[in-house]
Amino acid sequence: MADITAARDAALAEIASAVSLDDLTSMTTRFAGKKGELAGLKKQLGSVESIDDKKAAGAAINEAMAAVDAALDDRRGELRSEALAARVEAERLDLTEFMTKPSRGKAHLVTQAWERLEDVFVGMGFRVAEGPEVETDWHNFEALNMGEGHPARGEFDTLFVDHVPPGGTLGTTLLRTHTSPVQIRTMLTQEPPIYVIAPGRVFRRDTPDATHMPVFHQIEGLVIDRDISMADLAGTIEAFTHAFFGKGWNSRLRPSYFPFTEPSAEFDIQRPDGSWIELGGCGMVHPNVLAAGGLDPEEWSGFAFGFGIDRMALMRHGVDDLRAMYADDLRFIEQF
Ligand code: PHE
Repeated sequence: MADITAARDAALAEIASAVSLDDLTSMTTRFAGKKGELAGLKKQLGSVESIDDKKAAGAAINEAMAAVDAALDDRRGELRSEALAARVEAERLDLTEFMTKPSRGKAHLVTQAWERLEDVFVGMGFRVAEGPEVETDWHNFEALNMGEGHPARGEFDTLFVDHVPPGGTLGTTLLRTHTSPVQIRTMLTQEPPIYVIAPGRVFRRDTPDATHMPVFHQIEGLVIDRDISMADLAGTIEAFTHAFFGKGWNSRLRPSYFPFTEPSAEFDIQRPDGSWIELGGCGMVHPNVLAAGGLDPEEWSGFAFGFGIDRMALMRHGVDDLRAMYADDLRFIEQF
């Protein structure tokens, strides 16, 4: 009986001091297993002579084993909840830093300019039109009076898409190099008179530098109506310049060349300090372009313009490097 009590007490003491679930696993084999101490004592019961002593010892061993089992279970439960608490503590995320310093995000400089441009033109009676960024060669070049092999194509460093359209050929699907294909899409889907602007993203195979990015933004303008003249174009651009930049700014047109407009012009705007900056191209819509858009050039006439949004945002805020606008540096972004 003394051996049983000693074995039980030793087991219970060791179980109580177990510090890990691994400890408990080995203790379970040692104290409660078939080769354990108590099991060993049970095997010796056969050599006890008195029936009463045998009964008493058997009962004591069973009680001791039950006590050891219960102690193992209890300690296992304790260690498990300790382990869980430790894990919860370790995985806790401290979010207080973000909660104590809330800051408000804002629209990107280009988005701000884009939205302001829309406001100004919508205020002048224009509607907003859209077209896809992945375009066909036909919409981007052919219909704009730049047939295959036209030298002006070379000025648009085109990124082609690895896609063969049904019944078409490789090299005829591209990322639009300008927003002018929206002119064609609009003419094909809307009855004139047409007064639309089309802001959007455009792509050219350019190495980024202070004034170039391979992905940038343009806003296209298209007016188709009866008896539209170059004077309407010049007046629209002047009105836009005052509305967007302010009263101290002026605009001028300089003769230029685009395959899709005739006559064509480059338009510049003058800062209040007198200096001129080139902003975009424009002109009277070429008869071939009207025809590609399904319109009779004898009946309809119009003008179109296109200029860079990024560059305008740059100028309005006096930023001297286009790359700063896309560098995601908070010290820069938070200034606007
Ligand atoms: N699409 C021309 C460009 O990207 C700009 C332009 C638009 C010129 C409309 C004339 C008329 O350079």
